[in-house]
Amino acid sequence: MLGSLVLGTVFLLLQPVHSAVTWTATPFNPAAFPLAVRSPYLSAWLPQGEGNALNAVWPQFWTGSVGVSKPITLGWAGYINVDGVSYNFLGDPGVPNTNAQKAVQTSSVFTSTQSIFTLTAGPVDLTATFLSPVEPSNLLNQSLPFSYLALTATPNDGASHSVQVYTDISAEWVSGSDSLTVNWTTTVGDVITHQVQLENQALFGEVNDQIQQGPGYHSTRMTPGTTFQTGQDIVVRAQFINHSTLLDTQDTNFRDVSDDWPVFALAHDLGTISGPSEPVVYSVGRARDPAIEYLIANDAVQYRSSYFWSKYPTADDAISEFLGDYNNALARANAFDAQVSADANKISSTYAGLVALSVRQVFGAIEITVSKTSSGQFNTSDIMTFLKEISSDGNVNTVDVIFPGWPLFIYTNPVIGRDLLLPLLNYQETGQYPNMWACHDMGSIYPQALGHNNGDDEKMPIEESGNMLIMSLSYVQKSGDISYVSTYYNLLNQWTEYLVANTLIPGDQISTDDFAGPLANQTNLAIKGIIGIKAMSVMAEMVGDMATSANYSGIAASYVKQWQGYATSTDGLHLTLAYNNETTWGLSYNMYADKLLGTNLIPDSVYEMPNSLPPDPPETAWYPTVDEEYGVPLDTRHLYTKSDWQSWTAAFMTNTTVRDMFVDAVQKYAADGESSQPLGDWYWANDGEVEGFRARPVVGGHLALLALQSVEYADVSNITASNPNTTKGSTNTSIGYRHEARRVDVVSVILAVVVLSGTLVL
Ligand SMILES: *[C@@H]1O[C@H](CO)[C@@H](O)[C@H](O)[C@H]1NC(C)=O
Ligand SMILES: *[C@@H]1O[C@H](CO)[C@@H](O)[C@H](O)[C@H]1NC(C)=O
Ligand SMILES: *[C@@H]1O[C@H](CO)[C@@H](O)[C@H](O)[C@H]1NC(C)=O
Ligand SMILES: *[C@@H]1O[C@H](CO)[C@@H](O)[C@H](O)[C@H]1NC(C)=O
Ligand SMILES: *[C@@H]1O[C@H](CO)[C@@H](O)[C@H](O)[C@H]1NC(C)=O
Ligand SMILES: *[C@@H]1O[C@H](CO)[C@@H](O)[C@H](O)[C@H]1NC(C)=O
Ligand SMILES: *[C@@H]1O[C@H](CO)[C@@H](O)[C@H](O)[C@H]1NC(C)=O
Ligand SMILES: *[C@@H]1O[C@H](CO)[C@@H](O)[C@H](O)[C@H]1NC(C)=O
Ligand SMILES: *[C@@H]1O[C@H](CO)[C@@H](O)[C@H](O)[C@H]1NC(C)=O
Ligand SMILES: *[C@@H]1O[C@H](CO)[C@@H](O)[C@H](O)[C@H]1NC(C)=O
Ligand SMILES: *[C@@H]1O[C@H](CO)[C@@H](O)[C@H](O)[C@H]1NC(C)=O
Repeated sequence: MLGSLVLGTVFLLLQPVHSAVTWTATPFNPAAFPLAVRSPYLSAWLPQGEGNALNAVWPQFWTGSVGVSKPITLGWAGYINVDGVSYNFLGDPGVPNTNAQKAVQTSSVFTSTQSIFTLTAGPVDLTATFLSPVEPSNLLNQSLPFSYLALTATPNDGASHSVQVYTDISAEWVSGSDSLTVNWTTTVGDVITHQVQLENQALFGEVNDQIQQGPGYHSTRMTPGTTFQTGQDIVVRAQFINHSTLLDTQDTNFRDVSDDWPVFALAHDLGTISGPSEPVVYSVGRARDPAIEYLIANDAVQYRSSYFWSKYPTADDAISEFLGDYNNALARANAFDAQVSADANKISSTYAGLVALSVRQVFGAIEITVSKTSSGQFNTSDIMTFLKEISSDGNVNTVDVIFPGWPLFIYTNPVIGRDLLLPLLNYQETGQYPNMWACHDMGSIYPQALGHNNGDDEKMPIEESGNMLIMSLSYVQKSGDISYVSTYYNLLNQWTEYLVANTLIPGDQISTDDFAGPLANQTNLAIKGIIGIKAMSVMAEMVGDMATSANYSGIAASYVKQWQGYATSTDGLHLTLAYNNETTWGLSYNMYADKLLGTNLIPDSVYEMPNSLPPDPPETAWYPTVDEEYGVPLDTRHLYTKSDWQSWTAAFMTNTTVRDMFVDAVQKYAADGESSQPLGDWYWANDGEVEGFRARPVVGGHLALLALQSVEYADVSNITASNPNTTKGSTNTSIGYRHEARRVDVVSVILAVVVLSGTLVL
């Protein structure tokens, strides 16, 4: 941490004065724009900082240059030719002996699913829409590892112009190293697809966080005037710049990624246009099979495939339908964006911008998978979702990374949340994990979910046990799926027993904020465990185990009283970071779970305490007294903070001024132009400088206020096995779930009946 402090200081001294971008940035200029962000390996971003136009820098893989030998550029170049004059609009290629100009960016917009740039190319304006679909209502569609780029050209001078457009990708998309050999093919039919892959693939192997397995794809529909070419970057680009068309030729001299940089290009002649052109649609993608290696019973491993393979026999089939569906996909995306925006604007427009920036980042960390039966058929009754703990670690399904992101899953579709928990639950059900508390993750290195049979995972016993119990009840409340509780009852109860014995006086454990080190008697960790015990009480009642329910309910109530005594400063003004340590305080963000679950365990006076005082004496409220320029520090040990935990804390503020103080601070950081990496959740509250982490799915926590909006549990205790609440009015507010529940294909109905034991209204 010392190193970080020193670095932070140096940076402060060197910081240039921030200049505004020269184009209209709506809702704001983010640190990086998601361009094609759909999986841990399809993750292309435009680094921003104080403002890089779409054609000022190359897109990058989420890693950027941190921890790797070179910036991981993803070659993605674009040109538009207007009346024979060539303009570069995407990427920053240098092509000797050509005279392409730079198109001039006039606007940038981002929504939850799209990044949209407008650039002027002489007498024509070009709109480039990067759409990474977010499809919570259709998990198969969500599993498609493809993303769209759509181009529309419009004359800006009222005249007619001859227009051609061009894009290419490099082989950098398929390898974490530029010195490995790739080969490629181009197939031409209704769709033109360039496919490129490493010649020597490594099953489940990563280099610099990029998977060394499976092809990359660059595709477009074959329409009149469509041409293609593969070959050296400067040759292929010069061909288009000079001649406005490609040669329909394939370079078959397979070589290293950086050896005369092979690129895979597609071009369209739009002819002479006098008004807005029809969109020209490209897709980029990365697919592989199998996707995940997963540990099942008896130390056996199972290979799991991306869900979409169960519908599409080949990648070409999937790409063809994906490209053909663009107009509908755009309509679905616009509807999704509008819904999220309307919900978030109930808090504020500042909040809506922060939420929109966060959504693709979360979905870009998960992969939805299916297993095969012993006869090799896809078993679509066995869906599990895997999450990569991006950048902080390569762990698989880290419980305390799913947990901060949980509000997004609950808001969009609780089934995605459940499917993220299933790998962990099923693994621990096999009995191979030796510890009695919940394990930290499903595997050390994505995409190998090989468990921890020797119990050597990062040890966060209270943290993860509490998290699993809280997320379990949250899912069951949202879905009415009581069979979940009966299926995993013993495991859930085992973790509760651990908490009963350990959470009131927590030992010297780390919490999810492991970078801050271990600490005994952490107030915020203890309350998580106590809420976990209460959550089990509610779940026990749901399955009719009234004695256990009453026991845990009583224990939780008693613990909360004692916790208040240990954790309240003697002046009564705030909670402490650690029991009986007067000078300390911290973000007690785990109290959010009590609100999310509607368990009402913590008295109102405690919620009010950290942020508003009794009228007498009339002092300022607590968190505002410790607020820095970019928000409230995580705790008294450091001035750094977390964007996710501030959002959780904001969500239970009883005073909207204080709530907005948090929301505005996080957004101010996200928009401050001090970094050009995909949004990092860990930063300095005093100067808005990112401390670490990037592109992590924990930014799903920014939706904490949205998840609460949609929870209206008047009385959860009424949901029991004998009285299941099949009304589930609240699930309707979950924007994807109602569609999920309506899926009508036979397999899904069977799945639902088996998995949900008929408790869901289909
Ligand atoms: C490219 O390499 C892959 C993996 O080694 C191999 O399966 C494929 O046949 C090769 N394709 C071509 C066109 O050489
Ligand atoms: C493009 O035109 C320049 C001259 O303007 C010429 O030097 C170059 O060889 C041409 N390249 C191609 C591929 O046509
Ligand atoms: C899923 O995608 C397919 C095409 O890929 C499209 O036809 C279908 O409408 C989508 N379904 C939903 C529910 O979005
Ligand atoms: C399919 O998966 C479900 C859920 O894991 C399992 O219960 C069932 O046995 C599997 N079916 C086959 C044929 O493997
Ligand atoms: C309550 O639960 C705790 C922890 O599981 C257990 O030790 C205790 O015996 C239980 N008490 C009753 C009365 O069931
Ligand atoms: C933790 O708090 C309890 C209750 O106040 C106290 O008895 C115990 O000594 C504390 N432990 C440490 C390590 O400070
Ligand atoms: C109180 O917390 C501070 C900061 O974590 C620590 O330096 C100090 O030793 C603690 N005091 C006690 C009595 O535990
Ligand atoms: C809300 O907090 C603000 C800022 O601390 C304070 O000025 C205001 O009086 C508080 N409002 C109420 C109703 O407590
Ligand atoms: C819960 O059940 C009780 C008793 O059956 C009933 O009086 C009460 O209205 C129910 N609450 C809700 C929210 O349905
Ligand atoms: C069932 O849930 C809905 C929505 O949360 C609620 O309005 C209704 O009162 C609940 N009914 C019972 C019997 O708890
Ligand atoms: C919830 O969804 C169901 C099924 O789509 C619908 O019949 C019902 O009217 C909805 N309820 C609310 C409160 O929107």
